[in-house]
Amino acid sequence: MTTIVGIAGSLRRGSFNHALLRAAAEMAPAGATIEIASIREIPLYDGDVEALGIPPAVAQLKERIARADGLLLVTPEYNGSIPGVFKNAIDWLSRPASDIPRVFGGRPTALAGATPGPNRTSSSQAAWLPILRALGVRAWFGPRMGIGGAGKVFDHDGRLVDETVREQLRAFVAGFVAFADSGKGSQG
Ligand code: FNR
Repeated sequence: MTTIVGIAGSLRRGSFNHALLRAAAEMAPAGATIEIASIREIPLYDGDVEALGIPPAVAQLKERIARADGLLLVTPEYNGSIPGVFKNAIDWLSRPASDIPRVFGGRPTALAGATPGPNRTSSSQAAWLPILRALGVRAWFGPRMGIGGAGKVFDHDGRLVDETVREQLRAFVAGFVAFADSGKGSQG
C-alpha cells in the first residue's frame, strides 16, 4: 500500500483546495490511499511555546508525514504567494530543525492548488519551491495541477464536476503515486 498524506492550506469550510484534495483522494489508484490531514488545530508558531514542547497537533502530523510514502500540498494563493496559515503549519512541522530529515528528507512531495481567479495558483506554487528545497523533500515536477475559475469547476457541494479537469487530476494523482512508489525505502 502506498500512503500519501494530503494537506490543504485553507481553514474555510467551503474551501476549493479542500474540495480539490477530496477529489484527489477519491481518485487514488488501487493500492494507494490519500489520507487527508488537517492543519486546523495547529497554533500560531511561537518559539516560547516550542520551548515548552511541540504541540500535540504538530507532533501527530509530523509522525503521519514521517510514516507516509508521499506528501501532497494543496495550496491556495494569497497576494501572489502562500497563505500564512499554510506556511505557519509547515513552519511548525519543521521544528525542531533536527527532525527535518526524518519528517521531510527525501519525501516525495507534490503541489496542487485551486483558485477562483485566472492564475491557477501558479505564483503560490512557485513560492513553495524554496521551502521544499529547505525541507529537502524529493519534489515531483510532473504535469502542473492548478485550477483556475474554481467556481465553475466545482459544484455547490464541492464536487469536481468538470470532466477535463477530472481527467487532468486523475493523471496527476496516478503520476505522483507512481513517483512515490518508485522512491519507497529511500526517505530519510
Ligand atoms: C485571495 N485570493 C487570491 N486568488 C488568487 O488567485 N491570487 C491571489 O493573489 C489572491 N489573493 C488573495 C488574498 C487574500 C488575502 C485572500 C483572502 C484571497 C482569492 C483566493 O484564491 C480565494 O479566496 C480562494 O477561494 C482561497 O482558497 P480556498 O479557501 O477556497 O481553498
